[in-house]
Amino acid sequence: MNTAAGEVEGRHGLGEWSAAESVVINRAVQNAPSVHNSRPWSLALRGRTAELHERPALLVQHDPEGRDRRISCGAALANLVLAIRNLKWTAEVAFGSSAGLVTATVTATGRAEPSEAERRRGAAVLDRWSCRRPFDGPGLPASTRDVLLEAVAAPGVTGRWISGADEALGVARLLTYAGRVFRGNAEYQRELSSWTTATGDGLRREGLGERGLAAVGLTTGRTRLPDEHALAARIQRESVLLVGSPADGPAEQVRAGAAVEQAWLEATGRGLVTSVMTQPLHLAEVRSGLAAGLGFAATPQVVMRFGRLAEAADPGIDAPLR
Ligand SMILES: Cc1cc2nc3c(=O)[nH]c(=O)nc-3n(C[C@H](O)[C@H](O)[C@H](O)COP(=O)(O)O)c2cc1C
Repeated sequence: MNTAAGEVEGRHGLGEWSAAESVVINRAVQNAPSVHNSRPWSLALRGRTAELHERPALLVQHDPEGRDRRISCGAALANLVLAIRNLKWTAEVAFGSSAGLVTATVTATGRAEPSEAERRRGAAVLDRWSCRRPFDGPGLPASTRDVLLEAVAAPGVTGRWISGADEALGVARLLTYAGRVFRGNAEYQRELSSWTTATGDGLRREGLGERGLAAVGLTTGRTRLPDEHALAARIQRESVLLVGSPADGPAEQVRAGAAVEQAWLEATGRGLVTSVMTQPLHLAEVRSGLAAGLGFAATPQVVMRFGRLAEAADPGIDAPLR
């Protein structure tokens, strides 16, 4: 602890966030992934606490139950905790709710060095982005899959890789089914296009996939839905992780979002690219079909795909716009 910090802490207990700390914390939260890039939270910094509040409904068609909103808040919470830990504070999380909306309060109670994983993931916060291009090359090696599975594992959250031809075909059938449902829903598509912009304020148009697995994860009016066998072959070539939670309440959805972000940051720190999809999981029959077909004893919350960018790929096409 340096002298100036020590004086402040001596006079005011643990003091309050400095201006520089507030900038770091706000930037980390701002950079969390969120449904349609809607950032459905607000953040209040007081003393040595940071309160993340879920904001009310924004996406009536896409997210009528608020599932994605809470998963997004979980991703923001992961970034918030990582920022505080990398500022060398402890970060204790308490969940609450007000008017049916989740609140997570993070309190720094003292000084503590971050772990290696916290350092690595914290350093990846500003580099993380959604890469919806088809990935090239073989899937990830088993050792990398193990690391990512471990990163997603948290109390109340579980992950499972999709593996083998039968599983891939079962998943492909459900995803193409969902793609057809969403592509044919005019009101849904109207809301999706109103959130799709050229600037990245909302969903960035050029970042959206038009083909392959990622396109089935956010089907627009322009999406070319692949034949389910072609999609199954792609699922087998890519590394696709299903993240779920045995219970399906608001707090579990927040926790699932935090776990997804931990795995996403772990992947980013290892030079991998990722995209996530929840659109198909808004259909209850797709959630139950996935769970039954895979023998997955949890409610599917997010599908994640991980891979490497082909060397020849032009990063200008859909690199993050900040
Ligand atoms: C809860 C949640 C749900 C999401 N659902 C989808 C989805 O169904 N399909 C998709 O392509 N991207 C999805 N995304 C990715 C967001 O669109 C993306 O994070 C956001 O546009 C910000 O872009 P960035 O990740 O490049 O920073 C989701 C993200 C979150 C956190």
